[in-house]
Formats: sequence, structure tokens, C-alpha cells
Amino acid sequence: MGDRLTGKRIFVTGAAQGIGLAILEACLREGASVFCMDRDAGLLENSIASLGGETPTLGGLAGDITRPDDVAAAIEHASLIVGRPNALINNAGVNVFDEPLSLSDADWDRCFDINLKGAWNCSKAVLPAMLEDGGGTILNIASTHAFTIIPHTFPYPLAKHALLGLTKSLGLEYAGRNVRVNALAPGYVQTQKVVDYWNSFPDPEAARQETLRLHPGGRIATPEEIAKAAVFMISDECPFMNATCLTVDGGLSVQQHPA
Ligand SMILES: NC(=O)c1ccc[n+]([C@@H]2O[C@H](COP(=O)([O-])OP(=O)(O)OC[C@H]3O[C@@H](n4cnc5c(N)ncnc54)[C@H](O)[C@@H]3O)[C@@H](O)[C@H]2O)c1
Repeated sequence: MGDRLTGKRIFVTGAAQGIGLAILEACLREGASVFCMDRDAGLLENSIASLGGETPTLGGLAGDITRPDDVAAAIEHASLIVGRPNALINNAGVNVFDEPLSLSDADWDRCFDINLKGAWNCSKAVLPAMLEDGGGTILNIASTHAFTIIPHTFPYPLAKHALLGLTKSLGLEYAGRNVRVNALAPGYVQTQKVVDYWNSFPDPEAARQETLRLHPGGRIATPEEIAKAAVFMISDECPFMNATCLTVDGGLSVQQHPA
């Protein structure tokens, strides 16, 4: 157990699995109180149970970040159980990949509602208390898709580019009031979402090998490696880091082409 996040009351979305769950575990290990929101009620319940169940430092509520009423209910619950959040991690997100001209309006809306508006819904819900209490921090889990494009992944990267814009905008807006807003940009991370992506190809194993080949170190990240960066960014170890983005991709996005 560490104490790097003692005093942090963290609200994290999409924490029932994957990167969000690894962040949840890492934050608890560093002494934070954490409240999670995820739209998958069963998975969220199992994840909380696997961590020993609800306690004064761990709580959760099922809900959809695209619904402001769900967000309000979760923040209210969080305030009762772990205290009102002084840190928010906007992690919930989904892949929406299509050929641009084949994309339905419904999928366009789903992509932006979850990957962008959901983060804004949660930010809007926690910011008044942060400002009233004299400060706080927001971390948006973006992606290398926030500044590069992989062909055939439209419109997911557009939403992540906009999430980076939201990060910079809110970071500047509230810099004078002790609220830091940053983004973390993972490359490929070993989660179900990436497995589903590989499975969308006719030969999933070939797709997996191709992903590994693209990486300078021949591997992709573990969720725990992303969580370590998140802990640092949420902690008070980087008090002047604001309105910026930290890339954690093993060097993937800076190479001109694989060796
Ligand atoms: N896995 C990667 O390679 C990778 C890379 C870069 C960025 N990211 C980003 O990291 C974040 C987490 O990704 P992951 O791979 O852990 O995904 P995941 O699919 O494993 O987990 C995402 C969680 O978010 C929840 N969720 C989705 N929509 C929601 C909604 N509307 N309301 C509440 N909860 C919702 C899901 O139920 C799920 O539990 C996402 O924002 C993703 O875009 C992932």
C-alpha cells in the first residue's frame, strides 16, 4: 500500500473492466477513495466484489455517462459513500469504426455521445464542487487517436481529437482556480476492446501479430502500465501539469514506419 493519492476522492467511469478497472485498483493501492460508474451493472458488481465489496473507500453505481440523470445520481451516491469527488477520471469509451460513407447517423451520435459528451457530462457534474472546494483534477483517457489517424477507424479518432480539445479548453478555463485538466493517450492496450478489434478481422491471430509488429518494442501495453501513468497525473506529484496530454504508447506514434 502506498500513500500517493491519500485524500483523493476519485470518480472513475468505465471501471468495471479493462483500463478503468486497473486504474481503480491502482488508485485504491495508493490510498485514494474511489467511486466507479459503469453501464454494465453485472460486471461492475463483480469487479467491486472482487475488491472486497463496498467500503467507505470504494463504491459504485451502474449508469450511462450519456445520461445526465445517471451521472447526477452517481455523483450523489459518491458523495454519500466516499465524499464528493475532488478528482474525476473520464475513462469510459467505445470503439466505433466504419467506412465514412457507410456510417449511420445513429453510430455517429453514439460515438460522440459516449467518447466526448459523456466526459463533458461528468466534468460538468463535478466541476462546481471542485471550484467551491478550492481545486481538483480531471483526467481524460484519450488515445493516440487524439492526434493520429488509423485508416478505417472513422469516426472514433474524431471524438478523441475533440476530447483533447475539451481537455485543453477546460484546463485553461479553470487554471486560475486550482483545477488541472489533462489527458492520457494510450496506444494499444491489452483489453477486451482490443481483442474484439482483432476478432473483427477474418484472421484474428494475423491481426494481433500485425499490431505487435507495428510496435517498436514488439508488444502492446498492459492496463496496469496505463494505470501507473494515471496515478501520477492525478496525484500531487505534477502540480504544474495542466491542459496537456501524456502519451503512453511504447513509442508507436512517433515512428515514421516500423523497422
Ligand atoms: N484498449 C486500448 O487499446 C485503448 C487505447 C487507447 C485508448 N483507450 C481508451 O481507454 C478507455 C478504456 O478502454 P478499455 O480498452 O479499457 O475499454 P473496455 O471496453 O475494456 O472498458 C470500457 C468500460 O466502459 C464502460 N462503458 C462504455 N460505455 C459506457 C457508458 N456510456 N457509460 C458508462 N460506462 C460505459 C463499459 O461497460 C466498459 O466496462 C476508453 O476511453 C478507450 O477509448 C483504450
